[in-house]
Amino acid sequence: MEKAIILTISFFLLIFSCFVSPISSVDTLKPGDSVNSSAFLVSADGFFTLGFFIPNDSSLSYLGISYTGGNDIGWNDIGWNDIVWLGNRENGISDDSGILTINSAGELIITSYTLDPTVLYAGGNGKNITATLLNSGNFVVREMNIKGSSDRVLWESFDYPTDTLIPGMKLGVNHRTGRNWCLTSRFGENNPASGAFTLEWDPGTRMLIVRRRRLIYWTSGNLKDYTNQSLRLNVKEFENIPKPDFEDFNYNFTNVSNGAEDYFSYSRITYPTAIHGPHSGWQLSYNGDIFDTYNGTMIAKVSLCYGYNIYKGCESWEQPICRNHNEAFVLKSGHFAYGNGSEPIAESVVNYYLTESDCRDKCWKDCECVGFANSSQHVSNEIGCTFWKGKILTFVQSYDGSEPKQFVLVLKATKRWKSWEIITLVISVVALLLDCVWFIIRKIKQGKRKKEELRELMTLEGYTETHPVESDRGQGHHLRLFMYSSILRATGNFSSTNKLGEGGFGPVYKGKTIEGREIAVKALSRRSVQGLIEFKTELILISKIQHVNLVKLLGFCIHGDDKMIIYDYMPNKSLDFFLFCPAKRELLIWDTRFTIIEGIAQGLLYLHKYSRLRIIHRDLKASNILLDEEMNPKISDFGMAKIFKQNLIEANTNKCAGTYGYMAPEYAMQGIYSIKSDVYSFGVLVLEIVSGRKNNSFQNEEGPLNLVEYAWELWSNNAAIEVMDPMLKCSRSRIDQLKRCIHVGLLCLENHATDRPTIEDVISMLKNEMMPLPMPNCPAFVTRNSTVYELENGKSEKFSANGLSMSAIDGR
Ligand SMILES: *[C@@H]1O[C@H](CO)[C@@H](O)[C@H](O)[C@H]1NC(C)=O
Ligand SMILES: *[C@@H]1O[C@H](CO)[C@@H](O)[C@H](O)[C@H]1NC(C)=O
Ligand SMILES: *[C@@H]1O[C@H](CO)[C@@H](O)[C@H](O)[C@H]1NC(C)=O
Ligand SMILES: *[C@@H]1O[C@H](CO)[C@@H](O)[C@H](O)[C@H]1NC(C)=O
Ligand SMILES: *[C@@H]1O[C@H](CO)[C@@H](O)[C@H](O)[C@H]1NC(C)=O
Ligand SMILES: *[C@@H]1O[C@H](CO)[C@@H](O)[C@H](O)[C@H]1NC(C)=O
Ligand SMILES: *[C@@H]1O[C@H](CO)[C@@H](O)[C@H](O)[C@H]1NC(C)=O
Ligand SMILES: *[C@@H]1O[C@H](CO)[C@@H](O)[C@H](O)[C@H]1NC(C)=O
Ligand SMILES: *[C@@H]1O[C@H](CO)[C@@H](O)[C@H](O)[C@H]1NC(C)=O
Repeated sequence: MEKAIILTISFFLLIFSCFVSPISSVDTLKPGDSVNSSAFLVSADGFFTLGFFIPNDSSLSYLGISYTGGNDIGWNDIGWNDIVWLGNRENGISDDSGILTINSAGELIITSYTLDPTVLYAGGNGKNITATLLNSGNFVVREMNIKGSSDRVLWESFDYPTDTLIPGMKLGVNHRTGRNWCLTSRFGENNPASGAFTLEWDPGTRMLIVRRRRLIYWTSGNLKDYTNQSLRLNVKEFENIPKPDFEDFNYNFTNVSNGAEDYFSYSRITYPTAIHGPHSGWQLSYNGDIFDTYNGTMIAKVSLCYGYNIYKGCESWEQPICRNHNEAFVLKSGHFAYGNGSEPIAESVVNYYLTESDCRDKCWKDCECVGFANSSQHVSNEIGCTFWKGKILTFVQSYDGSEPKQFVLVLKATKRWKSWEIITLVISVVALLLDCVWFIIRKIKQGKRKKEELRELMTLEGYTETHPVESDRGQGHHLRLFMYSSILRATGNFSSTNKLGEGGFGPVYKGKTIEGREIAVKALSRRSVQGLIEFKTELILISKIQHVNLVKLLGFCIHGDDKMIIYDYMPNKSLDFFLFCPAKRELLIWDTRFTIIEGIAQGLLYLHKYSRLRIIHRDLKASNILLDEEMNPKISDFGMAKIFKQNLIEANTNKCAGTYGYMAPEYAMQGIYSIKSDVYSFGVLVLEIVSGRKNNSFQNEEGPLNLVEYAWELWSNNAAIEVMDPMLKCSRSRIDQLKRCIHVGLLCLENHATDRPTIEDVISMLKNEMMPLPMPNCPAFVTRNSTVYELENGKSEKFSANGLSMSAIDGR
């Protein structure tokens, strides 16, 4: 009975003692004491703990100092970010046998079953020494004097920084001891052994420096004074370290330089003022980045440094020729593959001393390398690298992240413009332009002589005038400046015998330069309000537009108010000359006509789609289609609307009323033009070429209004073939082609611009004889009186599905 009571009581006492007796709550280690895996030291205020930790994601045990913030620590909650110092970073202990003790020889020493001891401090023999974990997180070995109160520091953990700098620690040099305080990064994410990066304080330049294997990657820039009146702050900041915007604390950087020491350190200024503000620690990460362990705020993004000096603080260094500043490695889940889908064999380098940044460096320097990973076939993560080589490899990304991650060389997305940046840019460009315009206007107003102004103009962009005759200057523009005198000579003083015709913009003369080249000189009417420089700018732009089906612009000439444009002379004149003259028309066999139709379409396609200016011609008609020796069509007068900078209707005098027949209804009536207005004009041209008749050559009161209506009537009556020029003699297959042209022509003449095909569609419809064509719907007829007649026929309902079939063509 008594036995039972005693047993029960002792059992409860045992349980009680387990709860009450703290594992250890002392902050000091005395000789003979030890810290083992179930005991530790806690700083007096309870904020730091020293003991053996098995940090998260690691299997090894380390003697470390951890920030525990006054909380009870649980072993499993210790993450790498909380650890501010390690005593055995190079020698993790693989079991829980680690012991820290001050032995009889006066050494502060870590022992274990498996590893050789690690001696932290060895000079205590014969001295009365203790080791204490201070409230600052510093672990110090002190010598007690006889009274047992005063002490001399013999060793301190702050002298042996790991990868974290906390307030009170120093970076720099102690000149007396020769000690260099610097941080050394971890080897890998979960391996605390020394890695490739160091963070140092350079007393000479007073900058923080991050090196990778001795090469400077990043510098902090100068330490400058920073004052914030509202916070009553008078501190310092680094050029390349963003001002942290913590709500509860700020950094207070200190640099000290005296005979004994040169160092940098920092403290916190807390809001509200508190002894224990938020814990802060600058950790140098395994990839070189520096961040504050408080909440991960970046101090320096060193992993962005590739030697191009494009990020704040990044240094520049010599680069392999094959790399450029837009390239970077990005961690992505997926694998590399050849074009045929088979996977390449990776090249592995097994080397215990290679960190991830070493692998990156090796890959970067190897021009064939397109990606790397740390070798995943090894048990431990941090052994060696795997490289993928060959420019033909493509990376197949796994978007669900199921495949292993690797570093892939990618082109960085170019920075997008922010809207305010665009606005600022536009405003400044506009302001600049206005400035220029104002400058020019002022020049003119000042009454400077035209000739002088002209000379100034010519000297712009490399046109040096003085040379009397055309000397192919400004070859860069393929555009030549002709002197007025040489134009006079070439055209025989613009003699009427040399006059080729009267275009919408003025008369055209034939000429011959002294080198014997035949040219066509278009004298522009004087009504253009455009300034000279603007005129020249447009010309330079237009001269860059070159295509076999466009007339080549040779140059220009300015004489006072007169402006002239010089083209290649086309011996066969223009299409209307052939088409509407019975004697010549006979020569235009169908094959030639079809080539002409195709050529015009190609020229238009280029203008609409492939030229940089996206020109809408706006005045496409037979007289603007010139023919070279081989009867190849060349569109002329393109870009005239740009040169004139005014509405085409104004540019047309009543002399060339013929143009009205070519105008799309929306353009004629509302002045709305688009590439589809050109398509309309093209449709008219096609019908003219097929029929050999002018669109507005229908004078008969009773008969159709114009060619378009005529063709439509025949088409509706299934007699489209009668549109064909009676002078044409065609074989069966050619007849089909001809019918197709009429069909396409009618499609181009749709009343609604949206119903018309694009010129791209037109080309494929003409080329591809198998392609089914939609039915034409409502052609529009524009007359001289600018009235649109739309055929009201019962068929319009029936054709309402056309929109569908057209869009099917667009979608091709
Ligand atoms: C740690 O040391 C204490 C006494 O100092 C001892 O009771 C305990 O068993 C030791 N723990 C281990 C795991 O060695
Ligand atoms: C430690 O790891 C566990 C699971 O792996 C995780 O839940 C915990 O948040 C980690 N703790 C720290 C401090 O990282
Ligand atoms: C060392 O100093 C402490 C006082 O801090 C004292 O209690 C102890 O006896 C001293 N030990 C020796 C060996 O002098
Ligand atoms: C190696 O790769 C693994 C998986 O991507 C990663 O978790 C680990 O941190 C890497 N090790 C190093 C040293 O980068
Ligand atoms: C001063 O600090 C406050 C609070 O962080 C901030 O809002 C303000 O912009 C700072 N003033 C200057 C001049 O930097
Ligand atoms: C860190 O804390 C500050 C406020 O104290 C906050 O503005 C910032 O976003 C935090 N950073 C991260 C990475 O959580
Ligand atoms: C900054 O630190 C220095 C040196 O530690 C100290 O003298 C100064 O008072 C601190 N400044 C503020 C605003 O706390
Ligand atoms: C800190 O550096 C500045 C120059 O950047 C220097 O003028 C100043 O004397 C240094 N401060 C100390 C305490 O040495
Ligand atoms: C795929 O292409 C690569 C390189 O072109 C070649 O080495 C490989 O043998 C090809 N694999 C197959 C299955 O064709």
